[in-house]
Amino acid sequence: MRILGIETSCDETSAAVVEDARVLSNIIATQKIHEQYGGVVPEFASRAHMRQLSGIIRVALEQAHTSLDDLNGLAVTYGPGLAGSLLVGLMVCKALALSLNKPWIGVNHIEGHMLATAAEKADIRYPYISLVASGGHTLLVLVNAPLNYQIVGRTIDDAAGEAFDKVAKVLGLGYPGGPIIERVASTGVPDAIAFPRALRESGNLDFSFSGLKTAVLYYSQSLPPEVAGLQLADIAASFQKAVIDVLFSKSLAALQKFKAESLVLAGGVMRNRPLRDYFTAQCQKHGIQLAIPAPELCTDNAAMIAHTGYMHLLHGERSDFTLDVAPNLSL
Ligand code: KG4
Ligand code: ZN
Repeated sequence: MRILGIETSCDETSAAVVEDARVLSNIIATQKIHEQYGGVVPEFASRAHMRQLSGIIRVALEQAHTSLDDLNGLAVTYGPGLAGSLLVGLMVCKALALSLNKPWIGVNHIEGHMLATAAEKADIRYPYISLVASGGHTLLVLVNAPLNYQIVGRTIDDAAGEAFDKVAKVLGLGYPGGPIIERVASTGVPDAIAFPRALRESGNLDFSFSGLKTAVLYYSQSLPPEVAGLQLADIAASFQKAVIDVLFSKSLAALQKFKAESLVLAGGVMRNRPLRDYFTAQCQKHGIQLAIPAPELCTDNAAMIAHTGYMHLLHGERSDFTLDVAPNLSL
C-alpha cells in the first residue's frame, strides 16, 4: 500500500510517501521565519504552509517515483497543533482525496510520533512503554497491543521540549532551544550544578519541568554577568542532564510497574545525542529492549503520519469529509 502523508501541525511543512513500512520519501521544510521572533508565530506558520505545501508534495512524489494515481490512500495530521496550520494540510488532503477518489484518514500527531520507529514492524514485544517528549507533550504510554494506548504518566506543567526552549530563552541562546542547548552543553560538565529532579521520588509517573526552568533562571541571575558567560556550558549541560535523568527514571518506573520489557522513544527531544546515548547505556544495563527513531523521524515529519495512517487504513478505518481540525486532540 502506497500512502501520501501530509504534516502541517506546527512550523514544519512536510510530505512523504511510505510503502507499507518503508519510507520512499520524506521531505521536511523547516520554517525559518520564526527564529527572529523567539517562537512560532501562528499566522506566519499557516501562510508558509500555504505557500510551500503543494511544491513539497510534488517533490515527495517525484523522489518516491510515484504519481498521484499510484497512491492507495492519503493520511494527514488533524490535531493536536495550531488550528490555522492544521487547516492547510487537512484541506489539501481533502481536495486530493476528493479529486482522486481515494481513501484517506486523519491522523493524531502524537500517535504519529509514537509509531515513527515503525515499532509494529521492528521486533518490539508487547506490552511496551512509549516515552513521548516533544515541544507540546511529555507522556508515558502503555501500549498493550497494536493501536491500543493507555496514558500512564504526563507532565503537570511544561513539556520537556518546551523546557529546552524556555531555558534557551532565559540564557539568551535563541530558538529552537533543544539543538542550541545540546551544542552549548557539549563543552560543559553535566554534574557541575545540582539542578532539581522534580517528582523523581513522587511514586507516580508524572513529570514537572517548570521548577527546573525557574531554577536555571535563578541560578544564572545569581551570577555576575562575566561569570555567567563562562558558566554557560556547565549550566546547559547540567540542565540537560537533569531532564535526561528524570525522563529515564520515570520510564524505568513505568516499565517495572507494568512489567514491560521494551521501551520506544518518540518526539523531537529524542534527537538529543546525550539523551540517546544515556538511554542506550541504561537500557543495556537493565536488560530493556530499546527502540529510538532515526533523528529525522523524531522531529515533526510526514513519514510518521503516512505510516500511522497506513496502520489505521489497514484496520479498515476511514475519515469522511466532515472531519475538522482538532487543535487540542489528546492521544
Ligand atoms: O516533535 P517536535 O518536532 O514538535 C512537536 O510536536 O512539539 O519537537 C520539537 C521540540 C522542541 O521543543 C525542540 O526544542 C525539541 O523538540 N528538540 C530538542 C532537540 N531537537 C529538538 N530537544 C533537545 N535536544 C535536541 N537536540
Ligand atoms: Zn511533533
